Amino acid sequence: MALLILMPDRDSNDLAKALKKTSPGLDIRIWPEVGDEKDIKYAIVWNHPAGALRQYPNLKVIASYGAGVDHIFKDPDLPGNIIITRLVDDSLSRQMSEYIAGVVLNHRLRLTEYREYQAAGVWSPKAARPGNIVCLLGLGNIGREVAGYLSGLNFTIHGWSQSHKDIENIATFHGDAGLCEALGDADYIVCLLPLTPKTADILNKSLFSKIKKGAYLINAGRGGHLNEDDLLDALYQGRLGGACLDVFRTEPLPDDHPFWRHPKISITPHTASLTNIDQAASQFHENYLNMVNNRPLFNRIDSAKGY
Ligand code: GLV
Repeated sequence: MALLILMPDRDSNDLAKALKKTSPGLDIRIWPEVGDEKDIKYAIVWNHPAGALRQYPNLKVIASYGAGVDHIFKDPDLPGNIIITRLVDDSLSRQMSEYIAGVVLNHRLRLTEYREYQAAGVWSPKAARPGNIVCLLGLGNIGREVAGYLSGLNFTIHGWSQSHKDIENIATFHGDAGLCEALGDADYIVCLLPLTPKTADILNKSLFSKIKKGAYLINAGRGGHLNEDDLLDALYQGRLGGACLDVFRTEPLPDDHPFWRHPKISITPHTASLTNIDQAASQFHENYLNMVNNRPLFNRIDSAKGY
């Protein structure tokens, strides 16, 4: 019985080392040096090649090396009857909370603006921007944590999700009908949704027509949530005052992409929240043991919902 690490665009050796530290006896195979395919029961994956997971006839569990699982579901040739899990950990939610708070406060306090004035030798004091309403799209583990963190900084939070959720101290909205109300007077719109067929392209012209003029957009969900042409139009027309993007349809962002040099767009290279290898290794190991001992696995995905 063996565990496979299948992450073509990541360094798998660090994860293998962390897993060995947690459990020295574990039989770990690093793709593409898999050995006998029949040994593989548990696969840790990130951006695997489509169809690759069909090679393992005894595979029981596919574990995402991240909070998102859209990279798994985009494979049209996934094996059926399989358990899929994702990472849920404090470090992912804490990093995301700090990232969103950092971007919002940077905008509110005009820090980037002053950096530009500095470069031009201009002394131009201004009050901080007054808006303090944040609309969070997505209220999973990470969204809830971000909501709590920003509430602690005295922001007013509107939380939106597909289905109804009650969360202390924040106004929640759900479904298509609730979206307009959640966005209504928000100064910041933050996307933390999972990418599914229902949420793909949600940040589009229709959504931008419902927001307060001049609101600021932060996308730390997935590039597939954003219609890029609609964003450029909304910025041009002043519907949106600016945007900070951490995720993109194509990553790395192509050299000739218009976002790189757009004066109202700030870019971070998919670093809002990075998997902590040691925490991830201990979660994978625990769930691997659950599988071996026929116990229920935690952080399972509902394949029908796609998250
Ligand atoms: C990062 O984007 C993740 O899904 O963990």
